[in-house]
Amino acid sequence: MEKKKLYIQTFGCQMNVQDAEKMAALLGESGYETTDDPGRAQLILVNTCSIREKAAQKIYSQLGRFRALKENNPRLIIGVGGCLAQQWGDGFFRKAPYVDLVFGTHQIHRLPEMVGHLEQVGGRISATGFCDRVRSLEIQAQPAAGAVTTFVTIMQGCNNFCAYCVVPHVRGPEESRPMSEILREVETLAGLGIREVTLLGQNVNSYGRTLPEGPDFAELIRAIGKVDGIERIRFTTSHPKDLSERLIGCFGEVPALCEHIHLPVQSGSDRVLKRMNRGYASAAYRDRVAALRRACPGISITSDVIVGFPGEEEEDFQQTLALLREVRFDNLFSFKYSEREGTAAVGMDRPVREGVKRERLEILQALQEEHTWEKNRARVGKLEDVLVEGESRNGGELTGRTRTNRIVNFPGKAELVGKTVRLKIVDAYLHSLRGRMEQSGGTDVH
Ligand code: 5AD
Ligand code: SF4
Repeated sequence: MEKKKLYIQTFGCQMNVQDAEKMAALLGESGYETTDDPGRAQLILVNTCSIREKAAQKIYSQLGRFRALKENNPRLIIGVGGCLAQQWGDGFFRKAPYVDLVFGTHQIHRLPEMVGHLEQVGGRISATGFCDRVRSLEIQAQPAAGAVTTFVTIMQGCNNFCAYCVVPHVRGPEESRPMSEILREVETLAGLGIREVTLLGQNVNSYGRTLPEGPDFAELIRAIGKVDGIERIRFTTSHPKDLSERLIGCFGEVPALCEHIHLPVQSGSDRVLKRMNRGYASAAYRDRVAALRRACPGISITSDVIVGFPGEEEEDFQQTLALLREVRFDNLFSFKYSEREGTAAVGMDRPVREGVKRERLEILQALQEEHTWEKNRARVGKLEDVLVEGESRNGGELTGRTRTNRIVNFPGKAELVGKTVRLKIVDAYLHSLRGRMEQSGGTDVH
């Protein structure tokens, strides 16, 4: 019998991408296979995101397109999951009455049962409760065929309640996945040809706190470092206040652990950090950076910054710029603050005007560009070990990443995909490097 077709549209972060892979794996067992063409689907799932303002608008316009498909095919089932679904629950039915299913971030494991009910009985289902245990943590995501790198969820949820952030409200409290399960998944992935895993969680540094046997994140990294076939380990995201000496000690000691950390600072002003409820002062952040660089001199450090949080004065913003100049991040993701429903920052006094936010963002990004350029240019003439991930988008070339997470494009044969090659860096751009294969090995890798 021909399989039923499932189309999944994902918005937002890597956690959502992972959830989509889990949905595909689960529904595969109920006779669905994924398609790239929503017009052929019997089931469409939209994985929503609520971290930033524009997301909701985009999701509605996308849903509008799916509604048109339903006019031709009334049996089409449309489901909405992810963070916005968690937040709005059956409010979705009011705004988009053609939606059949709304499922929250803790309800993914129930998809086969709920979809089965809709197929046979019809009607509408909304399921957005939080569970004590996040059952979807147990579902193994299927990496794409031929993939060399993949993500592994090690925990989900967050207990930090940063004042601007919707995550604790839509993903629930922090929960870690048992180490034995993670190791089993990583071993399976290695067997499928995966060479690099990125350990994923909202706050990976507090991994293990909810587990009875209490392994910490450093222990997990050391264990994964011993899995045969896994050449590289990365992780995201780290909270500065939970960055332990034990974790810092893993850099340089666990050969597979890549020399890169994403460590969001959000602001360089103590006043703003306090209002954001970040739990550290800027001096403590600088101290963590220094400790990382002591343990691992070549480490690449990237970060996130929010400009225009309520109460951010010019002086606070200048402190953020000063921190950037001092730390010199390898790369930075920067955002204008925008209010998220249900968070503590809603209605805070002294909101920053939109024009000021925009101006600050431009200034910040211009400064970071200088730093990114400077860091990328410094790689020219150096040798780098690059794990080849595939053919580059503009064709005819290969693409991979350095251990410090820089993209390198270079001419080479497709059989190198999945291998680590030593390249000489011959040119630098803002978002990538250009490399050339070296015949003779060198030593100047970092
Ligand atoms: N407004 C602007 N940026 C935000 N981020 C999270 N919530 C908000 C918000 N309400 C940013 C933070 C976080 C990144 C993933 O998104 O910098 O680290
Ligand atoms: Fe959001 Fe803060 Fe938790 Fe990160 S640590 S997910 S910013 S609440």
